[in-house]
Amino acid sequence: MLKQRENWASKLGFILAAAGSAVGLGNIWRFPYVVGTNGGAVFVLIYLVVVFLIGYPMMVTESAIGKHTRSNPVGAFRALAPNSPWWLAGALGVFTGFVILSYYSVVAGWSLSYIFKTLFGTVGPGVDTADAFVGHITSVWPPIIWHAVFMLLTVGIIAAGIVKGIQRWVQILWPVMAVLIVLLIIRAVTLPGAGAGIAFFLAPDFSQVTGVTFLNAVSQAFFTLSLGMGVFITYGSYLKEDDNISGSAGSVVGMDTLIALLAGFVVFPAVFAMGLDPSAGAGLTFITLPAVFAEMPAGVLFGTLFFILLAVAALTSAISLLEVVAAWLIDEKGWTRGKAAAVLGVVIFVVGIPSSLGFSVWSGFSMPGVGTDLLDTYDWFANSIFLPLGGLLTAVFAGYVWGAKKVQDEANFGSGNLKVGNWLAVMIRIVIPVAILVVMIWGIVETFAG
Ligand code: PFF
Repeated sequence: MLKQRENWASKLGFILAAAGSAVGLGNIWRFPYVVGTNGGAVFVLIYLVVVFLIGYPMMVTESAIGKHTRSNPVGAFRALAPNSPWWLAGALGVFTGFVILSYYSVVAGWSLSYIFKTLFGTVGPGVDTADAFVGHITSVWPPIIWHAVFMLLTVGIIAAGIVKGIQRWVQILWPVMAVLIVLLIIRAVTLPGAGAGIAFFLAPDFSQVTGVTFLNAVSQAFFTLSLGMGVFITYGSYLKEDDNISGSAGSVVGMDTLIALLAGFVVFPAVFAMGLDPSAGAGLTFITLPAVFAEMPAGVLFGTLFFILLAVAALTSAISLLEVVAAWLIDEKGWTRGKAAAVLGVVIFVVGIPSSLGFSVWSGFSMPGVGTDLLDTYDWFANSIFLPLGGLLTAVFAGYVWGAKKVQDEANFGSGNLKVGNWLAVMIRIVIPVAILVVMIWGIVETFAG
């Protein structure tokens, strides 16, 4: 007997919502700067291999768990392994969603404010963009207010439900993102001097490869594909009986990869055309790009469009983070959707405040080695510990406890032209757990030894 539960209104609903979760700050803000600081095209190549060998099977596995159990992450693990502590793996996912959203919303708030700063010229020609960025994040109220505005938008969508909220909004926002990115690429690649940026992005220099390149590729893949914290368990739980997972997950991985690559074609040609440094790190989006827009023809227009794109992409990811936590309260604690969304919105907003104030009044707090500020510290725990740990537990659980064959059958159920073969078992039982363990341990050692 299937439990009564809201479903996506169409197959496309799941694909757009899931791809909306995947495509976010991770693609447009993080991917270009990680490429820029990891040697360019060589990183892109390794990253693509990791996405298909680790990312795709992981996404299939999480979706299969969700579809099979029709539950939030805690309920899903409990249903497949009753009377065991495995539900804690689901609880870790819910907790991670909570933590990531708290600081993700702060960065998304910066993007919202940059829409207006670019439009009205507060950041633009004649302005030192580094000073402007530091000025913004070190001020106390504006970033917190934008963080609140962003949380409010996220709560509004989740409160409206799966079809009327999430599905409706991703169907409106995806075309917006597609149009914006195409406009931005046309602008970037037609700038004089853009060719050097394209070469940096596409011509691999193998002398740049180190062990760290692989580590960064694995963490980037987890973050950008929204893996390791139950988003796909939750979104998969709203699939209908005959919906096929293997094909839909393929589309989601494809769309996420495509958008990351397209973001590279916006950022690198523009950065090189203006003679700036692609390895500026996390400031690439908020410092280097505004400097690029300040110099290029019609830069106000394209700069404003760029930050709208960033904010919209962040919004479709934030709703998935909130949905994971909300689904848990709704299923397990019997809360109404409206109450879950509203209460969580307030609590997550409050929890996010320190990561904003970490740049101003609380700039003294940070953990030695783990980032230079509180936002970095939240991010380090989420990306270096919680997501990989969640991924590890999920893969081990699916591979050994529930059973790789069951994952494969659930994934291949229904009609679709992409099917997963027996190799899935090898990936989730051996390759993925080993890869994650290596990445986690190495990451921790690097952080505390370096
Ligand atoms: N995938 C999102 C991005 O690339 O920005 C971030 C994210 C969303 C991570 C949801 C994890 C998650 F569960």
